[in-house]
Amino acid sequence: MTQASAEIADAVAVMAAAQITSAPKDARNLMAQALSVEPSRMTLHLRDELTAEQLDQFWTNVRRRAEREPMSHILGSRLFYGRNFKITPDVLDPRGDTETLIEAALSEPFEEVLDLGTGSGCILVTLLAERSEAVGAGTDVSEAALVIANVNAKEHAVLDRCSFEVSNWFSVVRGSYDLIVSNPPYVTAEEMLTLEPELTYEPRMALTDEADGLTAYRRICAQAPGFLKPNGRILVEIGPTQGAQVAQMMADAGLAQVQVLPDLDSRDRVVSAHKPA
Ligand SMILES: C[S@@+](CC[C@H](N)C(=O)[O-])C[C@H]1O[C@@H](n2cnc3c(N)ncnc32)[C@H](O)[C@@H]1O
Repeated sequence: MTQASAEIADAVAVMAAAQITSAPKDARNLMAQALSVEPSRMTLHLRDELTAEQLDQFWTNVRRRAEREPMSHILGSRLFYGRNFKITPDVLDPRGDTETLIEAALSEPFEEVLDLGTGSGCILVTLLAERSEAVGAGTDVSEAALVIANVNAKEHAVLDRCSFEVSNWFSVVRGSYDLIVSNPPYVTAEEMLTLEPELTYEPRMALTDEADGLTAYRRICAQAPGFLKPNGRILVEIGPTQGAQVAQMMADAGLAQVQVLPDLDSRDRVVSAHKPA
């Protein structure tokens, strides 16, 4: 028999050797999963003795993590804006940065929201869960991603207020919305060469346009006015260096009140604009 704390210490050493900076936190979370306890209660279980089965599960997952597989793939979920979302290799692992877009969206009222490139559905599902009167639609080119978005919408009890459709940005979208949100792929082809190993486990088309990182914004900004109600709002997540260019695209499309909003680290993260009344 072996104690959880001793196994955690050994796992931290293995993961630290793989250059994983979050090794202590990851080791505790993997142990919490092996013991089937809440991660926040792991401190109370450090002296637990592991069964052979728990030990095997723990080390299988530590080895996966040491290969730089993302924690969300190993655990099967990711906490986003206080809710757990099912995550598989078919969808982008939701980032904390995207909570900036959520905060911005919730800062004004909306009734009908469109989420372009919905992936796991984390943005749309969160917005509908936070606004019980709102309805929405989510689109993605990936049918496999929409299967996961559906599961998450059901899990968070908003499935009856949303629909999901395969679409190349606006290609099958009909009607008009008072809020359009999107976190499109914005990593440039060049940046893809230098990214962390974890990103190789994510769908490439969720990360990059294989070009200058701005392809999706050109389409979304140019077409958004046709799908926004008067006074309707658009919010897109951006990479920290893309603010000025995306803001210009929105202005060129005739949108007003264009603003670049920072994230908690003061980096440009969201561009917002309104359709004139
Ligand atoms: C950065 S991920 C965002 C996923 C999710 N909304 C989030 O914030 O975690 C971009 C998403 O856009 C989708 N996508 C890529 N190209 C697209 C296109 N041409 N039309 C619609 N969606 C697209 C990808 O499949 C992926 O789900």
